[in-house]
Amino acid sequence: MSRQQPNVAVIGASGAVGEVFLRVAEERQFPIGGLKLLATKRSAGRLLRFRGETLAVEETTLEALRGADLVFCSATSAASRQWAPEVTKLGAVMIDDGSAFRMQANVPLVVPEVNGDDVDWHEGILAIPNCTTTPLVMALHALRQVAPLRRVVAATYQAVSGTGAQAVAELQAQLGAYGRGEPLPAPSVYPHQIALNVMPQVDVFGEDGYTAEEAKMCNETRKILHLPELAFSATCVRVPTIVGHAEAVHVEFDGPAPLVELRAALEAQAGLALRDEPAASVYPTPLNTAGDDRAFVGRLRVDPSVEHGVALWCVTDNLRKGAATNAIQIAEELIRRGKL
Ligand SMILES: NC(=O)c1ccc[n+]([C@@H]2O[C@H](COP(=O)([O-])OP(=O)(O)OC[C@H]3O[C@@H](n4cnc5c(N)ncnc54)[C@H](OP(=O)(O)O)[C@@H]3O)[C@@H](O)[C@H]2O)c1
Repeated sequence: MSRQQPNVAVIGASGAVGEVFLRVAEERQFPIGGLKLLATKRSAGRLLRFRGETLAVEETTLEALRGADLVFCSATSAASRQWAPEVTKLGAVMIDDGSAFRMQANVPLVVPEVNGDDVDWHEGILAIPNCTTTPLVMALHALRQVAPLRRVVAATYQAVSGTGAQAVAELQAQLGAYGRGEPLPAPSVYPHQIALNVMPQVDVFGEDGYTAEEAKMCNETRKILHLPELAFSATCVRVPTIVGHAEAVHVEFDGPAPLVELRAALEAQAGLALRDEPAASVYPTPLNTAGDDRAFVGRLRVDPSVEHGVALWCVTDNLRKGAATNAIQIAEELIRRGKL
């Protein structure tokens, strides 16, 4: 595509990620010719602001997608599967936020600061990783500049916005009732009350005892880093925060990995910032990193339980770098490389 300003459609524009997508596109001055905001019939007619204009959300239909050069899909796996073939038939490129195509062999799964070159072999669909995978691969990519990775163990602390707008409303309703001293409304999004609680379940359980979220973290990390054999185990936990996924990560290396070199590698990693002054209680938290497009790392220290290991703490705004920002960066990379 030679035009500077692609026509863009956003499927899922009324959702938690969709709304942040519009803000990030404005901030980054992402080039957009025409813009279609799409969702289901439920949200059709809802008004959203973009670059000083008010645009109405439309129902997603083939007609509404016609004319788009670039489609950002931030909806459901079913919607991605339904619309991806239509989008590619129309000759447009789709960047998908969901998990439907992430592990498909002909779909690049991309964090531009880590494997930007993978956009080159797309066949019309590209995917962003799960919002816990993104900051993790950025940190691991930096660390592996010092020594090869042998094993990764992670435990996550994931905000409710990772589940979508309805989960945020559920937490807010429960917290509101608690504050007023009223009985808490029964959960409908989560299997248990999320206010004042933590849950070692994100997504459904597989036969091996791991959840789908844990499997996604493992498989996606291996695909993005091009390390199909990387030893990996994760426990994904939902916590009652609204925005910002945190992770406690243990990394074991194949050989010596001095802290001073690892620190320098993390500082040099594009898109990542080190906040690590433990004596002054300086480390990233969901609240002090919300609204920022970077991934953050702190609490880097030696893990004395293995021969060559470190422990660290990672935090990212799941709606930004974990979703909308990464999708827009992929599009920017496509434009820069003439691949749109
Ligand atoms: N939240 C995160 O941190 C995060 C991070 C990375 C990736 N993702 C992925 O991004 C996607 C969206 O997540 P979200 O958190 O924004 O969810 P959400 O708040 O529940 O929003 C879902 C959006 O998709 C629309 N939608 C649902 N079914 C659709 C269909 N069949 N056709 C067209 N539009 C449809 C909804 O429209 P209505 O308003 O009409 O219902 C809404 O706009 C998911 O695939 C998720 O896995 C999310």
